[in-house]
Amino acid sequence: MLNVAEFDLPYSFFSDAISASLAPQYNMEKSLEDLYAKHRGKKADKWQSYLRVYDKLLHIYRNRNIDLLEIGIQNGGSLEIWSQFFRSAEHLIGCDINPDCGTLHFEDERIDVVIGDASKKCTQEAILSKCDKFDIIIDDGSHTSADIIVTFSGLFPHLRDGGLYIVEDIHCSYWTEFGGGLYNQLSAISFMKRLSDIVNFEHWGVNLTRRDLLEPLKNFYRFDLDESDLGHIYSVDFTNSMVVIQKESSEYNTLGKRIITGKNADVAHQINTYGEDQSELIPQTLEGLVDPINYALELEERKAKIDSLSQHLRAKDEIIQHLLNSTSWKVTRPLRALKNFLQPPGTSQQ
Ligand SMILES: C[S@@+](CC[C@H](N)C(=O)[O-])C[C@H]1O[C@@H](n2cnc3c(N)ncnc32)[C@H](O)[C@@H]1O
Repeated sequence: MLNVAEFDLPYSFFSDAISASLAPQYNMEKSLEDLYAKHRGKKADKWQSYLRVYDKLLHIYRNRNIDLLEIGIQNGGSLEIWSQFFRSAEHLIGCDINPDCGTLHFEDERIDVVIGDASKKCTQEAILSKCDKFDIIIDDGSHTSADIIVTFSGLFPHLRDGGLYIVEDIHCSYWTEFGGGLYNQLSAISFMKRLSDIVNFEHWGVNLTRRDLLEPLKNFYRFDLDESDLGHIYSVDFTNSMVVIQKESSEYNTLGKRIITGKNADVAHQINTYGEDQSELIPQTLEGLVDPINYALELEERKAKIDSLSQHLRAKDEIIQHLLNSTSWKVTRPLRALKNFLQPPGTSQQ
């Protein structure tokens, strides 16, 4: 029988049908759905659809010596379940900003917890001091756009080729409280959509690097991702509330040679030869096109200005109110009334 583990190929190289035929080999143990249904230990909290996605995505990693990181562990139940799901895992690291998570005790010695804000460099260094490369990283932390984006930029370089970076609850990207909104160009899901453009970088035909596409977001959120890391983005898959970014060596991330086979061309006699020579890419132009994120950034700048002006106005208002309530202002009221009375009609002032 074909042993997938011998081939270092991305999971998406296998159709569902092939995956299903391989399933018995990899699913000797219970599915993640089963493990969640039967779990009695620490509380775990995941949406039902995630379990199905995970079962489909992760079975080829099940018997490997993987290293997993989960950001956001709360009561620790998900880590317990991952430890049952990934029997051969080496490290199962959890990270949570809540110091109470540091008191959690796990029977399984492969589980370790780092306390801290996963978007901060110092926390990332603490994680990497326990395990410097991961095969699976799951972000189930704060779900704010800023945290998701900044954490991704810090940890994606530490994901192994062939690994998965998974962001849960990305539906929060549609909500303002989480730094999102349907048309918000600065939301985490907008960032992920940009990553999906990066998958098709070789076809842009414009004089931009992958980094250039992220430039405005990089400046806004103050993160960096270098061109070579971005070149390892193999795929970006969206399902309901989840985004899965797969990392692969950059040689997998090209369209490759065009393969035309067979002899009979009864319909299209002359198949165009586009793509047979990669240098044929037709240059495209960005003339007349504006990156919508620039509008979003201008809006953010204006909002900040309005906020600061409103604050300034409120401070002035308070001074005026204070003056109006002061004794000296009240005592001199008859004098101002007399002045108004003596002034010619139509020129009176308060
Ligand atoms: C939805 S819960 C995690 C649930 C857990 N993964 C599970 O499946 O049962 C979110 C957790 O993320 C933590 N969190 C929030 N912001 C964080 C941050 N910036 N870094 C690390 N953890 C964070 C919270 O303290 C909370 O425990």
